[in-house]
Amino acid sequence: MASDLSSILVITLFAISLVNLTPSLVLARKPCHFPAIFNFGDSNSDTGGLSAAFGQAPPPNGLSYFGGPAGRYSDGRLVIDFIAQSLGLPYLSAFLDSVGSNFSHGANFATAGSTIRPQNTTLHQSGFSPISLNVQYYEFHDFLVRSQVVRKKGGVYERLLPKEEDFSNALYAFDIGQNDLTAGYFLNMSTDEVKAYVPDVLSQFQTIIQYIYSQGGRYFWIHNTGPVGCLPYVLERVPVLAGQIDKYGCASPFNEVAQFFNQGLKKAVEQLRKDLPNAVITYVDVYSVKYSLISQGRKHGFSHPLKTCCGHGGKYNYNKNLGCGAKVHKHGKEVLVGAPCKDPWTYVNWDGVHFTQAANQYIFERIVDGSFSDPPIPLNLACHRN
Ligand SMILES: *[C@@H]1O[C@H](CO)[C@@H](O)[C@H](O)[C@H]1NC(C)=O
Ligand SMILES: *[C@@H]1O[C@H](CO)[C@@H](O)[C@H](O)[C@H]1NC(C)=O
Ligand SMILES: *[C@@H]1O[C@H](CO)[C@@H](O)[C@H](O)[C@H]1NC(C)=O
Repeated sequence: MASDLSSILVITLFAISLVNLTPSLVLARKPCHFPAIFNFGDSNSDTGGLSAAFGQAPPPNGLSYFGGPAGRYSDGRLVIDFIAQSLGLPYLSAFLDSVGSNFSHGANFATAGSTIRPQNTTLHQSGFSPISLNVQYYEFHDFLVRSQVVRKKGGVYERLLPKEEDFSNALYAFDIGQNDLTAGYFLNMSTDEVKAYVPDVLSQFQTIIQYIYSQGGRYFWIHNTGPVGCLPYVLERVPVLAGQIDKYGCASPFNEVAQFFNQGLKKAVEQLRKDLPNAVITYVDVYSVKYSLISQGRKHGFSHPLKTCCGHGGKYNYNKNLGCGAKVHKHGKEVLVGAPCKDPWTYVNWDGVHFTQAANQYIFERIVDGSFSDPPIPLNLACHRN
């Protein structure tokens, strides 16, 4: 019921926003009817990949919507869930999840902790996923080829796997890069050192888009990276000077690096549009939406812009060693110390790293109509070239 109401709200908001666009942009165009979504990314859009391979995200993740852990690092749905829902598609199954998955309408290759560049460390050593973007591409390629072989067996496989033509009509969504930036800082690199490797990160990103295009992908929906300097796990872990904290409490050097990455990403997208003549690529400025959510959130009912909902202690209710869901043994009893707040919908940040469902919905509602996109066309028209 709640989700029906929210989709009506989204459709209504969407209809209102269409009226504001120039008629020539909208009236001539039919909605795209993407039959599938293939998503690549990190925890911002992981719907169960890391959980399937390395152990489930613990409770209280999933608390506000799924009634329990659902492979997502949030109390509920992610932006990619709202995207799927608004396109009339079921939530995406994680490619790595062999239990109960249905890939007829796409697959999700994202895993929490993923980077664009392969890291030279294990998940255990650094917390970064070994399933970097190139590995996500290998998985995608494997899926593309083998799903068609298996689908020919008929029966249930026809109802679990996409049709061949769905691959060229699908939306290819990306939200990745944040961890490439934090990876350097966590190795004690300076901002200049991090900036110095950003071109390599972007070049590897570009290569993957070219590979997907060469396999028939045409419609690309690319989120830029968020203001990582506003997240407790960065604020707590990487030292900054008092003068480097902005008036909203965010650490400016990290946000500047994120913006530096985003400028490069935008240029990379412009180059890709030249190199891939039949591609339709939408660049979505999620950074600006997230930053305005944190800086202006109080106006929208988010009374806690920086503090973690589910965590333990310290300035931000965040402790890297006692995260959301963490338990300790006290007097022979297990006690939950990484406990959730009572009102997650008033928090932007769920666990110090990831956004709450309420924040994800806020972000989705602002990007769906194209107001933060280049070119400025809505999600359901993102198959049309400007
Ligand atoms: C990992 O090591 C290789 C070989 O030394 C290097 O080329 C690559 O840049 C390293 N990756 C990262 C993320 O540092
Ligand atoms: C998988 O999902 C699709 C789309 O919702 C549905 O039509 C199909 O029946 C599902 N497959 C199975 C085996 O349930
Ligand atoms: C980074 O610096 C901190 C503080 O000096 C140190 O404890 C930590 O081991 C260093 N990390 C790496 C990866 O070098």
